[in-house]
Amino acid sequence: MLDFGMSVLPLARFQFAMTTIFHFFFVPMSIGLSLVVAVMETMYVIKKQKIYQNMAKFWGKIFLLSFAVGVVTGLIQEFQFGMNWSEYSRFMGDIFGAPLAIEALLAFFLESTFIGVWMFTWDRFKPFWHAVMIWMVFLGSSISALWILTANSFMQHPVGFKISSATGRAQMTSFKALLTNPQLWYEFPHVVFGAFVTGAFIMAGMSAWMIFRKQSTEFFRKSMRIGLVIGFIACLGSAASGDLQTRYVMNEQPMKFGATEGIYNKTADPAPWAIFQLTNPTKKTANAKIEVPDMLSILAYHRLNASVKGMNEANTSLHQKYDHQFGKKMNYYVPVNTLFFAFRTMAAGFGALAGLAVLGLWFSRKRKNTIGKQRWLTILLSIATFGPFIVNTSGWLITELGRDPWVVYGLLPISAAVSPSTSAAAVLFTNIVYFLLFLALASFMFFYAKKALYKGPESVDDTPDQKTEDPFSKEAFSK
Ligand code: HEM
Repeated sequence: MLDFGMSVLPLARFQFAMTTIFHFFFVPMSIGLSLVVAVMETMYVIKKQKIYQNMAKFWGKIFLLSFAVGVVTGLIQEFQFGMNWSEYSRFMGDIFGAPLAIEALLAFFLESTFIGVWMFTWDRFKPFWHAVMIWMVFLGSSISALWILTANSFMQHPVGFKISSATGRAQMTSFKALLTNPQLWYEFPHVVFGAFVTGAFIMAGMSAWMIFRKQSTEFFRKSMRIGLVIGFIACLGSAASGDLQTRYVMNEQPMKFGATEGIYNKTADPAPWAIFQLTNPTKKTANAKIEVPDMLSILAYHRLNASVKGMNEANTSLHQKYDHQFGKKMNYYVPVNTLFFAFRTMAAGFGALAGLAVLGLWFSRKRKNTIGKQRWLTILLSIATFGPFIVNTSGWLITELGRDPWVVYGLLPISAAVSPSTSAAAVLFTNIVYFLLFLALASFMFFYAKKALYKGPESVDDTPDQKTEDPFSKEAFSK
């Protein structure tokens, strides 16, 4: 079989990273946009001002685009399990089956059915019932995320299973344990807040760009403000859930935590936090450090006096725990530089987005609205449209690369999960095809989003809805 001197494993891993990162551009985008559209339609129901309905219709178009591209990329994602990761599918099938089936049958169907009805019934339902539909779409997409993360959390922290002595596969023993997995309840809020950040800043950023272009400025100022309010609250939610997750990771996956902090040995007490450092994974040293004194003790333990264990200590305990099963040669060190900088990108992204939200809200307030004159701010906010994609990807790099060398933590090493019968040539070929397909989908998304944006809203009408009178009613005749 052709293999071009390459091996299947790195190619399959590259494919998984590429498809997952690309797919996860659209997942938080559609969850987040469904929320902002639902908020706008609810404001229309409450305030009865036409502009909010126009906003919901306008941003609804961008939401529908992201949903469509998300479905296509999700299908590609599924192909890989059978093609490149058949050993993983065989091992995990019994665990994965139930959550993924429920996701497809309940959550995805709920979401897609209501999207279909919502799209075509603007004039057929009362505003209240039409708004209920978009909330159902939002509910469906959030429940969808819950089921997918149930499966993902099992891979990080397996619970409610036994290994069958006959087949060597993981068998579910408790569905309840799967659903009450602590990993899930740390991960789910963080991912969902991240999705709200994404939808909100996409809307705020695109609106800021239109304010910069001086097109339908009042419509886009209002849209931007709604986006920034939701975005700011979601940033706070991301930081609070991220803080809880940090301490959970420190206890459950100390190697991952050590790598995000770039520490090899137990730190001094109190521990400084490195804003920047150059880590050498071969020599296991860190140089050129820029540190904030005591900060790591505060981040890790919320107190001023605490030391933190490093990767070397984690490595010793992992060998003690798993050597009898997986041998002494297992390498438990994870890609330290990627995790270290990914964590700082995520933290800096949070600070930058929250700060921009505050500035944007301040300069666009109704009484002293000068946002149109703050050209620098509208440019920064426009660039922020892309910020959540970078922040989310950084987060996932930590979560998934920090799980090395396992595909299912403590149970199945990555090297044992790959398909034995796939050739490097086949994986290389699909890598190229998927890459081209993603390029086409991204261009399509970008082109149509830009077209819809530049076309602008159908109307920027700001007047309250007039109650329409039935010309044959009693009241009409008595006037
Ligand atoms: C705008 C702000 C943020 C966004 C959009 C974001 C997004 C994400 C995403 C998508 C993940 C991967 C999924 C997961 O494991 O939860 C993640 C992981 C993580 N995030 Fe964030 N994040 C943000 C801010 C923060 C902050 C401020 C902290 C720390 C206080 C933090 C701590 C973490 C940790 C520790 C992980 C890894 C968890 C694990 O491996 O289980 N995040 N983040």
